[in-house]
Amino acid sequence: MHQLAVFGNPIGHSRSPEIHQLFAKQHGLEIDYEPIFVPPGEFVRYAEQFLEGGAKGFNITVPYKNDAYHFAEQCSNAAVLAEAVNTISVRKGVIYGDNTDGAGLMKDISANLGWTIKDKKVLVLGAGGAVSGVVSNLLAGAPSTVEILNRTLSKAVAIVEKHNDPRVRAIEVPNDAFDVIINGTSVALQGASLDLPTSIITPKSCCYDMSYGNKAFLSWCADSGVSQLADGLGMLVEQAALAFNIWFDVQVETADVIAALRQ
Ligand code: ATR
Repeated sequence: MHQLAVFGNPIGHSRSPEIHQLFAKQHGLEIDYEPIFVPPGEFVRYAEQFLEGGAKGFNITVPYKNDAYHFAEQCSNAAVLAEAVNTISVRKGVIYGDNTDGAGLMKDISANLGWTIKDKKVLVLGAGGAVSGVVSNLLAGAPSTVEILNRTLSKAVAIVEKHNDPRVRAIEVPNDAFDVIINGTSVALQGASLDLPTSIITPKSCCYDMSYGNKAFLSWCADSGVSQLADGLGMLVEQAALAFNIWFDVQVETADVIAALRQ
């Protein structure tokens, strides 16, 4: 029995245990994957205790991805760029941190949805932890530009400065329409909605909400005639598939898992 977990706060809503059990079944592996509620300030103590018990690793969700980045002894390039870790694994006694969020988003966008961002104008809404974890992966998809719009401009500027790439810009007021619009804000968690100008969207835009469950952003896009819409369930499953691969070095099928979760 392999010990795994996801650490977060809140954690009750997490679908990761279900996803990883479906992956394990595909390979006849037995896993004990538990959601662990971590009180504020307790991340390191909980993480150390969990690994001392012989665990294979664990996932990390809001708000501990940056704590996990500092906790890891070695990190992947993706984790360093994001300053955030969503997957911890133990390799020959070394605690290794990775970030599969950006790769998971790109896998969902290109392989599952069949969208391309090559030469496209991309608008990213938000500049928090979720967005900083995916910008480098978006750039690797060769867009013409990645513009970041955030309520607090300075946070968008900080992401731009970190990437040092002329294609990435922080914007205060969007003037143009965009080919791809990605919502990376946590506005839905507060039951609120974004106040966006309709000039940014056309019926041909592809609109992606990195969160799932709250329909406000995608409904707003649909009202503008957009038909290419996706929530973040595919990203959630794809980032989990990449984490599963880190732990067990096996590929998993994701289409059936996404379909099972949708039901
Ligand atoms: P996460 O890890 O989910 O990204 P976060 O780091 O707290 O969480 O970032 C949340 C993002 O959603 C931020 O970009 C935040 O804007 P600010 O940087 O201005 O705080 C954005 N956000 C949250 N609530 C919002 C709201 N009501 N309107 C607009 N943006 C909001």
